[in-house]
Amino acid sequence: MAESAPQDQLAQLMAGYWHTQAIYVAAKLRLADLLRDSPRTAAELAQATGTNTRSLYRLLRALAGVGIFAEDEQHCFRLTPLAECLRSDVPGSLWAMAIMRGEWQYEAWGRLLHSIQTGQSAFEKLYGMPLFEFFAQNPEKGQLFDAAMTGVHGRETAAMLDAYDFSGIRTLADIGGGNGSVLTVVLKKYPAMQGILFDLPDVVERARPTIEAAGLWDRCRVVAGNFFEAVPPGADAYQLRHIIHDWDDEKALAILRNCHQAMAGAGKLLVVEGLVPPGNEPSISKFFDLAMMVLPGGMERTEQEYRQLYEAAGFRLARIVPTTTWISVLEGQPAGP
Ligand SMILES: C[S@@+](CC[C@H](N)C(=O)[O-])C[C@H]1O[C@@H](n2cnc3c(N)ncnc32)[C@H](O)[C@@H]1O
Repeated sequence: MAESAPQDQLAQLMAGYWHTQAIYVAAKLRLADLLRDSPRTAAELAQATGTNTRSLYRLLRALAGVGIFAEDEQHCFRLTPLAECLRSDVPGSLWAMAIMRGEWQYEAWGRLLHSIQTGQSAFEKLYGMPLFEFFAQNPEKGQLFDAAMTGVHGRETAAMLDAYDFSGIRTLADIGGGNGSVLTVVLKKYPAMQGILFDLPDVVERARPTIEAAGLWDRCRVVAGNFFEAVPPGADAYQLRHIIHDWDDEKALAILRNCHQAMAGAGKLLVVEGLVPPGNEPSISKFFDLAMMVLPGGMERTEQEYRQLYEAAGFRLARIVPTTTWISVLEGQPAGP
């Protein structure tokens, strides 16, 4: 028995994609939304989704075995805490993430070997264009990506606000701020602060409703642009959350140098990222690192690698503020002459 344990462990790890696809199909069929008000049988759910009753029952049974949905004695399925997160209409919903992981991310990860052999993005090889161009050409995928970012990284915002004190920042520019869900939360906590949301044109267009719904339109300027060309001047802090990890060193440096230029010698640079720990220490950052390799062609970095990037871009890494999640705030300042 003891001898087979490593085999069992490895076999379980190998079956990771079973879970990915089972969860994806449940999300695609919106099963959690359909169970919001009351438990239902597989037959009722199959009728509502136009699927095969027996097959759907087997999917639900398998998912119930890992804590997603639960079956009662009348063979009705109900939501569990994990299944609640698959609803599309709850705060912190992982519905968009489940779709994204099961569709184009799954396809790209199927070509991980290409990334390992060439050092290039498998996504780009498969789809013939870089990730963010794919979103511009497929707005519905871009919108889903924005929602997935809010879902998967949303809890990090609260942790960041608990750990890092933004007091004294008059204008915060959120560079690559996506749908505005991070900036709006920061602005709500700091009522005297002004915001600049900067992202690609199609993305900031989609951000307007989030800012309006938060009642922050008068305190938040929305600027469309390309951070490889320039970022807007006029802020005293530049926040980049999950931006630098999307890019290789050359591109990351270009973004940081544009922030440096916009800051004109004063202000704070706030890179918010996970740090790769040394050695064999388990960390989600090591698999996010692979995701960055396969998808946008970027990388997660160690503290030392961030120090080197900061220095090369003309910044001093003043301090690293850890949070209760995997991310830290890397506070930098323009280095003296
Ligand atoms: C991984 S998402 C992070 C979004 C947000 N900061 C967060 O933490 O949830 C990366 C963001 O960078 C933006 N982006 C990508 N290329 C860009 C470019 N060239 N100029 C400006 N923004 C860009 C994307 O549109 C996307 O919103």
